[in-house]
Amino acid sequence: MLRQAFLSMSNSRELQNVALHNRAARKFALRFVAGETLGQASRAIAELNKSGIKATFDQLGENINTVEAANAAADSYIHILEKIVSTGIDSNVSLKLTQMGLDVDEEICFRNVCRICERAKELNNFVRLDMESSSYTDRTLDMFRRLWHEAGYRNVGVVLQSYLYRTEGDVREMNDLGARVRLCKGAYNEPEEVAYPKKSDVDANYARLTRLLLTDGNYPGIATHDSRLIEYAKKFASARGIAPEKFEFQMLYGVRRDLQTDLVRQGYNMRVYVPYGKEWYPYFMRRLAERPANVMFVLSNVVKR
Ligand code: FDA
Repeated sequence: MLRQAFLSMSNSRELQNVALHNRAARKFALRFVAGETLGQASRAIAELNKSGIKATFDQLGENINTVEAANAAADSYIHILEKIVSTGIDSNVSLKLTQMGLDVDEEICFRNVCRICERAKELNNFVRLDMESSSYTDRTLDMFRRLWHEAGYRNVGVVLQSYLYRTEGDVREMNDLGARVRLCKGAYNEPEEVAYPKKSDVDANYARLTRLLLTDGNYPGIATHDSRLIEYAKKFASARGIAPEKFEFQMLYGVRRDLQTDLVRQGYNMRVYVPYGKEWYPYFMRRLAERPANVMFVLSNVVKR
């Protein structure tokens, strides 16, 4: 119930305006967001790199509704790729198609993502297409297929979500292509026609898909903070003789830092998703929805003020 309420609130423009001007919310959001500027995010990544953790940049922003804003977002990503080279940090990039203009014009979105993939290819880097709510799954995968087949990019990968019933088929398709998949549970409010309503089913599907990706996938990203599923992936890989270099664990900035460094110490590849920018509200609300303790912490700070 709480999860659904927070996910619904994540779409509210009015609440967004309130939150952006609330000092406590802003302060707490900075636990999950590496700052409002590219410089701050680059410094946060340099710190992570010192502990052996790789990163993926996310410039916050989604559901953009003008061509100008979509083109500007693509320019920013090209700038990020260049910043990675000039600062020498170890990071790739993650983006949302609705930030690149998917809702405005699919051709413009395609051209924008091609520009980013092209620059990433020149710089020997990689572009991950984040997955948004289920109303975008087909369009995201169609765009991915165009990038892969029509434009011929191989430095691009997708995200698939274990809460969707359809995902096993999508994992198999990506494994057949040799495309890199990030597996996550899924962060949006979904109806039970398309997604498992019970968390135990989402988790069981996550374990099943992890097996498929570790066995047949191309350098999958196991993106979860769930220590049981992480242990499961480690044990499965070790039992099958799948070396730690063949996959990576991924987590979100500011979540389970202890586990991030433990995994590096144990010899696993670890990548952290590092969001930055002024558009932190919907991202932050999804993080609150994932963990009621976060909500209580924010509320107690707001009340204290
Ligand atoms: P689960 O929610 O079961 O949490 C397991 C444990 O992790 C909790 O008990 C708690 O200890 C800790 N934890 C989890 N979330 C926390 C939080 N917010 N604050 C503090 N502790 C927390 N989703 C999506 O739909 N599309 C996408 O493209 C992506 N991309 C993405 C990239 C990366 C690198 C990660 C790690 C995650 C995503 N996600 C995502 C989000 C994902 O779908 C999911 O919502 C969150 O990762 C939370 O699910 P867990 O797998 O961590 O398990």
